[in-house]
Amino acid sequence: MSEVTQRAGVTTHGVASGNPAASSTAQLRCIEENCRATYSLDETLVVCPRCGGLLDVELNDIAEPARRVLPGVWAERRTSLAPADTSGVWRFREMLPISASAPLVTLREGNTPLYEAPRAAEYTHIDQMWLKHQGANPTGSFKDTGMTVAVTHAVRQGARTLACASTGNTAASLAAYAARAGVRAVILVPHGQVSSAKLAQSLDYGASVLELEGNFDSAMRVVRELAEDGSLYLVNSVNPLRVEGQKTVAIELMEQVGWNVPDWIVVPGGNLGNISALGKGFIEMRRWGLLDRLPQFAVIQAEGASPFAHLLAERKRDANAALDPVADPRTLATAIRIGAPVSWKRGLRVLAETGGASIAVSEREIADAKAILGRDGIGCEPASATTIAGIRKLAANGRIRKSETVVAVLTGHLLKDVDYTAKYHSGRLTEPEGAAPGGEPKPIKGAFANPPARVPATRAGILDYLRRSKQDSSVE
Ligand code: F0G
Repeated sequence: MSEVTQRAGVTTHGVASGNPAASSTAQLRCIEENCRATYSLDETLVVCPRCGGLLDVELNDIAEPARRVLPGVWAERRTSLAPADTSGVWRFREMLPISASAPLVTLREGNTPLYEAPRAAEYTHIDQMWLKHQGANPTGSFKDTGMTVAVTHAVRQGARTLACASTGNTAASLAAYAARAGVRAVILVPHGQVSSAKLAQSLDYGASVLELEGNFDSAMRVVRELAEDGSLYLVNSVNPLRVEGQKTVAIELMEQVGWNVPDWIVVPGGNLGNISALGKGFIEMRRWGLLDRLPQFAVIQAEGASPFAHLLAERKRDANAALDPVADPRTLATAIRIGAPVSWKRGLRVLAETGGASIAVSEREIADAKAILGRDGIGCEPASATTIAGIRKLAANGRIRKSETVVAVLTGHLLKDVDYTAKYHSGRLTEPEGAAPGGEPKPIKGAFANPPARVPATRAGILDYLRRSKQDSSVE
C-alpha cells in the first residue's frame, strides 16, 4: 500500500487522521472538455486518472435563501475566538469542500490587510489603487491560504508524506503546515534559484529539502511523477484543494471593499494557481448571487518567463493556440521563474470568463515598481511588484482606465528576498544571468534607488549631511 493511501489512525499534534471529513457537498471534475470525469473528494487524486487533466472541485450550490445571508454570517464570525473562525480561510467554510468541524491544520492564515496606496496610484496614473497584501500571512506569502486546506485534507485522508516542487514560497508554507500536522514535508527546489530566506524557512520548519540540478519546471515534472505512482502526496497548486483555500482571498477582499466589485484584480503569474483560485472565488460568488458582476483580471509576468502573456497574444491570431513553454526562463523575480506553468488551462478559462489581460514587464520595471511600493510604506518581494509595473503599462496603453478601481495582489513579504532590495538601492542589481549571452551582466539603474550614506560619527557631520541632501518624494 502506498504512503498516500495508508490510514495512520492516530492523532498527531491535535490533528486526527482517518477521514472525518467525507463530504457529500462537493466532488472532483476533470477540466478537460472531452473528459469531464467526476470523482469523489476522498480519492485523494491530484490529476484525472483517466486523461491526466487537472481537476476542479465542484461545489454543490447551497439553497438560495441560505446563501444570501452568508456575508452576514461571515462578518459575525469575526468576533469569535473559535479556531475555525479566527482563520481567514475557514471563516468562509460554506464555500469550502471539506468540513471545518473536525480538527484543522491552521496557522490562522488569511486576515490580510487591504491598503490604500497613494504613491503607487500616482505612479500608475490610476485614481484608486488598493493593495491586498498576502505577504502578511503566517509564512509571509499567499500560499498559506491554500496550504491549510490541502494539508488538512491530506492528513484526514491518512497521507504521511507531503511534497511539492517550489521556487521557495510553496515550500516554506508546506514545511510549516506539515510541521503543525506532524507529517513529513519533502521539498524539491531548483538548486541556486531560491532566495536564502525562503530556503531557511523550510529548513527551520524541519522539511526534507532536496536541491535539484535543473529549474523549477524540471522539479515540477519529477514531483508529479512521484505523486502519480502514489509515493508522495502532492500539494502544489495542481492539487484542487489548494485552489479551494486560495479562492477565499476573493471573499475576504470583497468584504474589505464593502461588496463593491473592483474593476480590475491584478496578480503576478507564475504557475498560474493564484489566478485560477481568485477567478474561481469570484465566479462562484457571482453564481451564488453574492456579486452583481465580475472584475477583470490582469496576469503580469516577467519578460524572461512569460509563456502565458505570449499565449494570450497568440490567441488573438489563433483561438486554439496552446501554451508554448519557455525552456530556460530567466528573471530576478525568482518566485515566478517558471517556463511551463501547470495551471495555464485553468488560468485561461478564468480570463475567458471574466475578461482581462496578460502582459510581460521588464526587470527594470519590476524593480522600480517595487521601490515605489516601498515609498508607500509597503514592502513586497519582486514577483509581487510585477503587478504595479503591469498596471502602469496597462493604464498607459488605455486598457485600464484612470477612473477604474484596481486591486493589486501582493503575494509575498519584503523580507522574502532582502538581497534583491539591498542590491537595488545600492546600485548593484544586474539583469538576470544569461539574459545577454556572452557579455557582462547589465546593471539595472533604479530610478528610485536610495543608497545608504557614509557620514562621520559626529553631530556636525550628520547635520551637514541632512542640510545637503533632501528627501526625494517624486514618483515619476
Ligand atoms: N508571487 C510569489 C511571491 C510566488 O511565490 C509565486 C509562486 C507567484 C507570485 C506566482 O503565483 O504560481 O500561483 O501563478 N510561487 C510558487 C512557489 C511557484 O513555488 O512558491 P502562481
